[in-house]
Parts: sequence; structure tokens; C-alpha cells
Amino acid sequence: MGWSRRYIRAAFHLNGGATVCGERGVVRMALLSSAVEMAQEMVSKAVREGDWAVDATAGNGHDTLFLARLVGENGRVIAFDVQEEALQNTRLRLQRESLLSRVRLVRDGHEAMPHYLERKVAAVMFNLGYLPGGSRDIITRPQTTISGICAALDLLQEGGVVTIVVYTGHPGGEEEKEAVLEWCSRLDQQRFTAVFCRNINRAKKPPFLITVEKHSPSP
Ligand SMILES: C[S@@+](CC[C@H](N)C(=O)[O-])C[C@H]1O[C@@H](n2cnc3c(N)ncnc32)[C@H](O)[C@@H]1O
Repeated sequence: MGWSRRYIRAAFHLNGGATVCGERGVVRMALLSSAVEMAQEMVSKAVREGDWAVDATAGNGHDTLFLARLVGENGRVIAFDVQEEALQNTRLRLQRESLLSRVRLVRDGHEAMPHYLERKVAAVMFNLGYLPGGSRDIITRPQTTISGICAALDLLQEGGVVTIVVYTGHPGGEEEKEAVLEWCSRLDQQRFTAVFCRNINRAKKPPFLITVEKHSPSP
């Protein structure tokens, strides 16, 4: 079936699901998508044109590019990574799309987030683990990840979301999962809603998503 790009995009938003291109260009709609796609879907509901947003783990720049598109030309994205290789990959991805001017790339840990932000943000995206295609020895670690999430929740505007995609297939991943789940499950329910979402019938160890939304303070 030859669907136009515009139709596919509209259908994606109407269904709140993912678009999958199968064999011979056949297009089908998937309501349930991967943890990474679901994170983007959550963030797209919270971010408006002109907002500020953070990519806490720039990596190869997929989420940074997604956020740069979402905030529009009056918005701003701050993207953190501890590796120059990751920031360079992100820079190239943004340059290819002429969107580098909307993004500040910061070579620092996300735990230092408060030093780089002068205003509240609508969304912060974490994608934990190691840089795909890079060294597997440089990974996110429980202590700095939790400091980063804590900073992100402070910087978040009401109605904003923090998304955390967690991987457990690498050494250190299980430990980080336990720490992040434990910490998020103790968040004050008057101030935040924290939701855990995981594929339960996939082989190997699929990543899962934690989304935290900040409430307006009760009167
Ligand atoms: C799974 S990758 C991120 C993938 C990225 N979202 C993308 O779209 O390609 C995780 C990244 O976190 C980075 N990282 C590790 N510790 C960090 C920290 N404390 N602060 C910020 N980034 C960190 C790694 O260097 C790595 O590039």
C-alpha cells in the first residue's frame, strides 16, 4: 500500500503508535512500540514550541535531534555527554539537519545539569548504558544517574516529563536498573507520577522505560 509521508505522520499521531515499514514498502501501524519510541512519544506530549529540553545522554544524537525538532526555532536543547566522541556524533547529526543552532552540547556529566540551565525545562531524556558503536567500558553508573534524575526533576516545569530508558544486557546494567527503580518508586506521589513500562515477551533483555511526570502543586 503506497501511503504518503504526510498521511503516515498524521496516522502516527492519531494512533499514538509507531509506523513500521515492512517488506516491499507495506506499511502497518504498531500501537505498542519500543522503549525508545515510547519515550519520544511521552516527551512529544509534554514539549511545546519554544520550550527548553535536555538530552541527558547525547550518545549518537538521536534523542537530541528529536528534541531539537520538537522545541522549534525558538526553543533550546542542552545535551550532555561525558565522551567527546558522542558529542561529535551528535554534532554531525544535527549539522546534517541544520539544527545545531538550537542545541548546546556540553561535555560534562548529567549530574552537573543545574550548572548549565538558567530556566525550567519541559522534558529531560535519559538513555542509559554505553555509547552504541563506542567503548563498552564507559557506561552510566547508578550514583551519577540518580544525581542526574534528581537534578532533572528539580529543573522540570509542572506538566513536564523525565524519561529514562534502562538497559540491563551489559555488566552493571542490572545494578543500575535496581537502583533507578528503587529510587523512582519512592518519589512523592503528591508531586510526581512515575510509571514503569516493559516488554514482557521479547527474547534477550529488552530495555524498559520509566516516565516521571511533575504535577502542579496542590492549592
Ligand atoms: C545509550 S548511550 C545514549 C544514546 C543516545 N540517546 C542516542 O540517541 O544515541 C549512553 C551515553 O551516556 C553517556 N554517559 C555516561 N555517563 C554519563 C554521565 N554521567 N552524564 C552524561 N552522559 C553519560 C555515554 O557516554 C553514552 O554516550
